[in-house]
Amino acid sequence: MYNSNVRPETMERITTPELANAFIDEQVKAVREQVGDKKVLLALSGGVDSSVVAALLIKAIGRQLVCVHVNHGLMRKGESEQVIEVFQKGLDANLIYVDATDRFLDLLAGVAEPEKKRKIIGGEFIKVFDEESSKLDGISFLAQGTIYPDILESDGVKAHHNVGGLPEDMEMELVEPVKLLYKDEVRVVGRALGLPANMVDRQPFPGPGLGVRCLGAITRDRLHALREADAILREEFDKNGLAGKVWQYFIAVPDFKSVGVRDGKRYEGWPAIIRAVNTTDAMSATIEEIPYSVLHHITDRITHEVEGINRVLLDLTPKPIGTIEWE
Ligand code: XMP
Repeated sequence: MYNSNVRPETMERITTPELANAFIDEQVKAVREQVGDKKVLLALSGGVDSSVVAALLIKAIGRQLVCVHVNHGLMRKGESEQVIEVFQKGLDANLIYVDATDRFLDLLAGVAEPEKKRKIIGGEFIKVFDEESSKLDGISFLAQGTIYPDILESDGVKAHHNVGGLPEDMEMELVEPVKLLYKDEVRVVGRALGLPANMVDRQPFPGPGLGVRCLGAITRDRLHALREADAILREEFDKNGLAGKVWQYFIAVPDFKSVGVRDGKRYEGWPAIIRAVNTTDAMSATIEEIPYSVLHHITDRITHEVEGINRVLLDLTPKPIGTIEWE
């Protein structure tokens, strides 16, 4: 059993279902020993790390795990629904679902400055999570989806890479069953736990979510258009075998309109910008070549199916100089 924050050199890289199952058995035992009959709280975003931790802890302690899923209104299409489907319906999780969309979007109204937007989203997330956890009795532990790169890159607590991190004054003992694993190992463990492929293989998604892709001051109509266009992009990348080849791909929608024409009438709309990059560490990124036929089809679908979008653009900028996200 490994309890420190240092991965022992003897620890084998988890690459197969057998190794994953051995890891799961070991962690189930360790968690039961650590937690006893007490309750554990987890912020379940639906991302790979928190989902795998949730599934692992449900296996170990069942409904002693209390999951809180905060929908900040900036999730991709279908993500919160999938959290409910997989965890509440599929795994009988003790799940508290909080739809805080209005709170977040009301606070963000009129705020155009990217850093300010991030701070608002991070701060409000902590508030909502705090409020929910203070309604609960007898929680003794806080589970976190910390993974080994988080420990190597920081002091071991997910700050930047969780929506703003969790409240510092939450004085609870931590349960971090995947803290010595690399991302690829977390995915292997997730698969062995029976989580759906589209959850385990999910591309990275920033904590502030679509908030940093709905550029400038977020409006509900533009956010809706972004979410729909992004869903079409993901569907077409899946269908055309690009999902496994491209590390991160998404749509950004800026807050300006251009003139277009639809059904013989003037049709003003926003552009949808496609960003599709490959990288190994997100520090630098290259542009993946997307076949023009696929781009034409995506353009056709987005401009016809998404209200408010009248152009589709392709971002050809590597990192550096462009960051992966637009904000
Ligand atoms: P940039 O835009 O800095 O992004 O090139 C590098 C990678 O980090 C992700 N990213 C974030 N992830 N919270 C996160 O959890 C954030 O605030 C955040 N900002 C950027 C981005 O999607 C890319 O994968």
